Amino acid sequence: MSTLFHNLAIRRYSCRSYLNKAIDKDTLIDLFETVRVSPSAANAQPWHFVVVNQQPLLNQVKSCYAKHWVQSAPVVVVALGNHTESWRRADGKEHVDVDLAIAIDHLTLAATDMGLATCWICKFDAFKCAEILNLPKHLSPIALIPLGYPADLPDTNRHGKQRKPLDSILSFNGL
Ligand SMILES: Cc1cc2nc3c(=O)[nH]c(=O)nc-3n(C[C@H](O)[C@H](O)[C@H](O)COP(=O)(O)O)c2cc1C
Repeated sequence: MSTLFHNLAIRRYSCRSYLNKAIDKDTLIDLFETVRVSPSAANAQPWHFVVVNQQPLLNQVKSCYAKHWVQSAPVVVVALGNHTESWRRADGKEHVDVDLAIAIDHLTLAATDMGLATCWICKFDAFKCAEILNLPKHLSPIALIPLGYPADLPDTNRHGKQRKPLDSILSFNGL
């Protein structure tokens, strides 16, 4: 398997150590140009991304996540879901989490393609984060995504050891 996309997908990893190196604004704009084209239910695009790269806000946002490693990130992106824009199915299911997951996946893969690294963070204090950013009720912080140049290397065999085998997650024409 050697498509461009497969090679990119296996290069992405959860980076938990970043270099003390800023990301220039043009690079950030290029990154979000890829995020911008993400698909979403009914093309609602119920997202907003707050790029935090200045103090004191950066430390305030980092304080929403208890793990020390986040301190090394020069940038934290706060991915917000907009509940007034998101599409709802007839049974009431809101799709904001699905849409945000797609956009954040574009972010993590595009960042990898640009030599940057990321990590999803969902185990954070979303209420505190909403307060810090003074968010209106219809915007929820869905994830924090630290972003930077990596200071560590991924385990090269992680997909062999840490992923379920294909035959346990795939079936044809029924379960
Ligand atoms: C929705 C989601 C939430 C996650 N939340 C956290 C988190 O709060 N903290 C953390 O260290 N990693 C978090 N991760 C990273 C996962 O642990 C990681 O993606 C998984 O172990 C696979 O490793 P890899 O990303 O290096 O391939 C999250 C990943 C996803 C997709």
